[in-house]
Amino acid sequence: MATLLAIETSCDETAVAVIKNRQVCSSVVSSQTSIHQPYGGVVPEVASRKHLETINPAIAQAFSEAQLDWEDIDAIAATAAPGLVGALLVGTTAAKTLAIIHEKPFLGIHHLEGHIYAIYLTEPDLKPPFLSLLVSGGHTSLINVRKCGEYQTLGETRDDAAGEAFDKVARLLQLGYPGGPIIDKLAQQGNMKAFNLPEGRISLPDGGFHPYDTSFSGLKTAVWRLVQQLKQKENPLPIADIAASFQGTIAQALTKRVISCALDYGLETITIGGGVAANSTLRSKLIAAASKYKLRVIFPRIEFCTDNAAMIGCAAVEHFERGHTSPLSLGVYSRLPL
Ligand code: KG4
Ligand code: ZN
Repeated sequence: MATLLAIETSCDETAVAVIKNRQVCSSVVSSQTSIHQPYGGVVPEVASRKHLETINPAIAQAFSEAQLDWEDIDAIAATAAPGLVGALLVGTTAAKTLAIIHEKPFLGIHHLEGHIYAIYLTEPDLKPPFLSLLVSGGHTSLINVRKCGEYQTLGETRDDAAGEAFDKVARLLQLGYPGGPIIDKLAQQGNMKAFNLPEGRISLPDGGFHPYDTSFSGLKTAVWRLVQQLKQKENPLPIADIAASFQGTIAQALTKRVISCALDYGLETITIGGGVAANSTLRSKLIAAASKYKLRVIFPRIEFCTDNAAMIGCAAVEHFERGHTSPLSLGVYSRLPL
């Protein structure tokens, strides 16, 4: 039984949680979205400054909501990579300071491990191996989770990540930021089959296609071309149909790859993580395809799909229970392989 305080500040959410094994005692997420919205994306320097303002109140709130004493906390964890360096520094420095003051071990956690283990908040009894699809603003990865700390990356994006594609297409349709939730809502009123868009496949030297890698930059360009063509003849633009067709294409491309990968590697359980795991079409397509092939697909609860500290706590518990801790000299890294 381990109780951990965890901090996540890799991008634009200041998040703090207290986790007892795989149970959430408290989870505070303070989003900076409205601050970055006028810029159409996250401004790193603005993010770091806002984290600095918010981190102490978020820690105080998470701690008081958990109704525990410092003696009950076994260790303190924070995301150390990958992410915005200035933003990561705020979270890790806060965690290290608390670790020194309260004489607790410190753990630096990989952000993607957090997204993988968010599933334990929904399925505390789940055990590896399982196939994890990580779809966020910065990643589209298919990972064979063999056991804690042993990950085999089977598929990756060659250019834009899935969430990045949602954000860029939302920008070109002038819908606002972040694009994923806005497109998802609009798509529900549109026709997925209205426009035929390319899913983006990676050619192999033998003439075939890579079975698991994705490429969404061509899809984004195809949406741009479609918009230019439609502007010549339609006013207003059929935005809901464009959103639905784009979302359907991404969801279909991901579903195809996940299912073939799970079947090829004999992995019967598929888990999803990252902000795009909240997407309604991806959820319905994956559930339908998994049931057809008698595979099990599980999604984290919506609030644990996008960045949060409970998932970082979950990953930290896995490591802490195996006796892993990090030195206080641990740095932060904008990029770091899993
Ligand atoms: O995991 P996350 O919160 O942050 C990163 O680690 O990147 O993911 C954020 C991404 C954004 O690109 C956002 O547009 C996307 O997740 N997203 C969605 C949805 N909700 C968030 N994409 C599609 N559909 C959604 N419902
Ligand atoms: Zn994330």
